[in-house]
Amino acid sequence: MKKSMSLCVLVALCQFYSASAQPRNVHLSWNGSARESTSTSMTITWSADAPNKGAVKYNTDQQLSLVRPASEKYSTDASVYVYTATLNNLQPNTTYYYQCGADPGGWSQVYSFKTAPVLGSQDKFVVGVWGDTQDNEFNTQFEKTDTVVKLMRKFPIQFTIHTGDIVNTGSQVPSWLRLFATTQPINAIAPFMPVPGNHDVDNKLANPGFQKPFPVFYDLFNLPGEDTDYSFNYGNAHFVAINSGHAKGVEEANATNWRYATDSPEYQWLEKDLAQARQDKNTAWIIIYMHHPLYSFGWSHVQGWQERITPLLDKYNVDLALAGHRHVYERHRAIRNNKPIAMTDAHLYTKPAGTVYITNGTAGGSPQGLGGSDMPSMVFTSAAKMYNYSIMTIEGKRILYEVYNEKNEKIDHFKLSK
Ligand SMILES: [Fe+2]
Repeated sequence: MKKSMSLCVLVALCQFYSASAQPRNVHLSWNGSARESTSTSMTITWSADAPNKGAVKYNTDQQLSLVRPASEKYSTDASVYVYTATLNNLQPNTTYYYQCGADPGGWSQVYSFKTAPVLGSQDKFVVGVWGDTQDNEFNTQFEKTDTVVKLMRKFPIQFTIHTGDIVNTGSQVPSWLRLFATTQPINAIAPFMPVPGNHDVDNKLANPGFQKPFPVFYDLFNLPGEDTDYSFNYGNAHFVAINSGHAKGVEEANATNWRYATDSPEYQWLEKDLAQARQDKNTAWIIIYMHHPLYSFGWSHVQGWQERITPLLDKYNVDLALAGHRHVYERHRAIRNNKPIAMTDAHLYTKPAGTVYITNGTAGGSPQGLGGSDMPSMVFTSAAKMYNYSIMTIEGKRILYEVYNEKNEKIDHFKLSK
């Protein structure tokens, strides 16, 4: 009797460790002072249902002879243990292999990532661009997002930027966990660098946390700075992520609590960041991304948001502004002082004297109506409702931007050179 009881306990313990301490939701990012560290550091974050002494085993070969212990915190909102390990002193432009987890409990599969080239390098690199993966309508279990993940994985992406509305309701913890599970195949090999959208943040004007993500967001992500507004350098490009909060709601309510109001700390940070980037001899490109588009057809346009941000983009010659929110892919002419600049070739921006504006469409949320082709700045908008993602290849003074639908048909491309 005693013997069989012990056996039962042992079996139960084995099941507990094999199922619940298994690493889940593995993803890469850069955090802390990421401005200078993309070529030498990488942060790995994962979660498990049961506590263990998590670590990352890694190296440039699959022997994984180096070990970095992880920090542990318990997320009361998500009811999971969250593990984080930052690898430092890595070699630039180098492939590393890693596995995260612990004994007992289990380890993830072996993944790999490539560190960034040294700052200022003219080497080619590839960025995945996606947005609006929100779990609504036809994507309640992230089925459409899963398709996009599988398609994006076919490209040699070094990191992805996400233009917000990551989930449909930011307060719903299961959505975040499902999102991370669905996107693990790409997020475990390429840093995931999102900006929150209006669906990810508290959208109640009267709440003290208005326009901020919910606690679960801060528990599960490891992003630079305060998590929602940050920048980082990669090769010869400077990427800036800004949280547009609930800009549409602020405008409709005729309220005054805009994010990036001209006297706000975030505005001052952005101006300083852009000025510094423009003076940096290692930076050829400045690429900004946000949720609410600065130029878009129809109801997604938020005039007050445009008026607050575009003067800074003009002043510091930002090259490319990427956005989400509207589930329609739109590409605009380069614009300066609110005036679209004429093009001789619809697929070529040669040393444009303004910023090129893109609305990326949707990588999961239900596709919306068509873009307005009669908008003066519009160069291209999709002729059919669709899901989509983009692949941005940067090499020296050239950018190639290619847009694909969920059937993997290329629906648009453009080249930007300086
Ligand atoms: Fe949105």
